[in-house]
Amino acid sequence: MTARMPIVGGNWKMNTDLASAVELAEDVVAGCGTMVESCDVAMFPPFPYLQAVGRALGHHGLVLGAQDVYPKPDGAFTGEVSTAMLLDLHAEMVLVGHSERRHVIGERDDLIAAKLTTALAAGLKVVLCIGETKEQRTAGTTRDVLNTQLTAGLGTVDADGMRDVIIAYEPVWAIGTGETATPEDAESEHAFVRERLAELYDADIADATRIQYGGSVKPNNAEELIAGPNIDGFLVGGASLKADDFLAIIRAAAATADAGSSERSYREARNA
Ligand code: PGA
Repeated sequence: MTARMPIVGGNWKMNTDLASAVELAEDVVAGCGTMVESCDVAMFPPFPYLQAVGRALGHHGLVLGAQDVYPKPDGAFTGEVSTAMLLDLHAEMVLVGHSERRHVIGERDDLIAAKLTTALAAGLKVVLCIGETKEQRTAGTTRDVLNTQLTAGLGTVDADGMRDVIIAYEPVWAIGTGETATPEDAESEHAFVRERLAELYDADIADATRIQYGGSVKPNNAEELIAGPNIDGFLVGGASLKADDFLAIIRAAAATADAGSSERSYREARNA
């Protein structure tokens, strides 16, 4: 089995102002220290603060990410942001398919797939978010929903492209609600996603792809969630706005990395 480097992302959503965004980034950088050697750490500030947060992140090994992107290179798309604009600001990663984009803004799978392929083609790493609503869970259709969102979202991504894709399983009913999937339920859905990846691609790709859990991740539940063998890190909303809480979650994820050999083998595998 490939050792997967854990990855923790902070999705700030439509929060912070310029001063608090910079302060939060600086506090996380200061607290991360050598943890970035055993856990990838990404921050997704609002678009207007990307540049300032990027500067605050400096060259300490943390990743600057964007919350969204539009799948056209330029032109008359009022309010949208292109991959080139993100790359200009040194963003390296982007979220696509977040549940708030799907359910509040109304994005559909074909747009999400277009965003994902455009971002990959531009050299960005992409976090594809998938997850079922409470109604879908109650109706017993969770796996159909995950399967559809995964298959449609990945669209035409080939095996090579999968090197730069991270999946985030985020049950919609757990996002911002304080209600978290049990570690057993989270692990079981992650294992299902990995099985589907093996069917869509192959066992090696399924094994190498990182699957984050998201939905009310806090310092007090991170440790038991990350114990799941198929849970490779977190996408954190509310708790990423407090440096101490975010750092505690990173610490829980970093502690699972088998210091030394597994990190190297993951990096070697990715760089091969
Ligand atoms: P939450 O958000 O941690 O506030 O539940 C997670 C997310 O939306 O990615």
